Amino acid sequence: MKALILSGGKGTRLRPLTYSGAKQLVPVANKPILWYGIEGIVAAGITDIGIIISPETGEEVKSLTGNGDRFGAKITYILQEQPAGLAHAVKIARPFLGDAPFIMYLGDNLIQRPLNPFLEKFKAEQLDALILLRPVSNPSAFGVAKVDEKGKVLELVEKPKDPPSNLALVGIYFFSPQIHEAIDNIQPSARGELEITDAIQRLIDWETSVESCTLEGWWLDTGKKDDLLEANRIILDTQLVAQNHAEVDDKSQIIGRVQIGAGTKVINSSIRGPVIIGENCYLENCFIGPYSSIADHVKLIEADLEHSVVLHSAQIIGIHQRLVDSVIGRRAQLTVAPRRPKALRFMIGDDSQIELP
Ligand code: DAU
Repeated sequence: MKALILSGGKGTRLRPLTYSGAKQLVPVANKPILWYGIEGIVAAGITDIGIIISPETGEEVKSLTGNGDRFGAKITYILQEQPAGLAHAVKIARPFLGDAPFIMYLGDNLIQRPLNPFLEKFKAEQLDALILLRPVSNPSAFGVAKVDEKGKVLELVEKPKDPPSNLALVGIYFFSPQIHEAIDNIQPSARGELEITDAIQRLIDWETSVESCTLEGWWLDTGKKDDLLEANRIILDTQLVAQNHAEVDDKSQIIGRVQIGAGTKVINSSIRGPVIIGENCYLENCFIGPYSSIADHVKLIEADLEHSVVLHSAQIIGIHQRLVDSVIGRRAQLTVAPRRPKALRFMIGDDSQIELP
């Protein structure tokens, strides 16, 4: 059994963060989203992993994630020149996949539950495809399945205007090598992509064994800012271990589950967990409230924030209003203009969103 993780694509919905980086590397609780997927796959006993990368962000994915040693896996990178669809990614991964059955895992999906029960069902029943489904309130934003009462899949449609059910396809699929033949028999969709849903529909039409399971526990498709903040909240809530490697002065207060990395200094500040703060940060006269993740090398002086994600090397200085539900990009600077504290001065990237009171 092998695994194929899709970490290419364009990441348009997380702009502007994804202008300068891969969306799968955006951190949740200071760890790239992609790594949660790799860890889940390794925990299910699969260590031969292919990762699809794009020309724009592939080098960054590769250099950060490495050859797999840190996960106890062997990672092979596969370059997809164009984001021509999920089934296209499988097609170009054929030399890596050979005739092995495999898990296909979309690199921006996060799930709470382990993969083992699904893997066991897939193997025990010798299925050609096993898909995971989840009832959602906005099925038109996903691939949607119609199933019979036993879970047998009758029909699949990608982002339908008129959804046949409220069951969304989770971005985790189990396939036998039969999927390659199905992919060879589909054409690009109206949006110009080779859709994996169309390939699975082929398997259904050929009356091969395509089954579904309902996914329990949380599932996050970290496509947008609010999904990212929600993923951050859930991971901090359920997985954060308190650990302090920082220098904290006596005037500071640390309450609840807080993890702080080495080389970080905390001066006259109050931190209320769950909060994670990376390495080599500097915090002075700050309040950091629950569900905040602060990456490495961040500088916060007279800053007040909660339920927010601050990325690598950002700086927030002298902002006395509380920042909430915010994502601050890498190297971004939020400061008060010297001598003109009431004036607002911006240098804002394309597609940024700023809400003023
Ligand atoms: O998250 C679940 C949904 O994922 C499913 O319900 C849909 O059926 C499925 O098509 C997919 O929809 P998305 O619109 O979320 O797909 P997206 O374009 O965001 O791509 C998913 C991941 O695959 C993302 O990490 C980027 C990567 N990708 C995407 C394409 C189109 C590639 O590596 N290559 C590609 O060509």
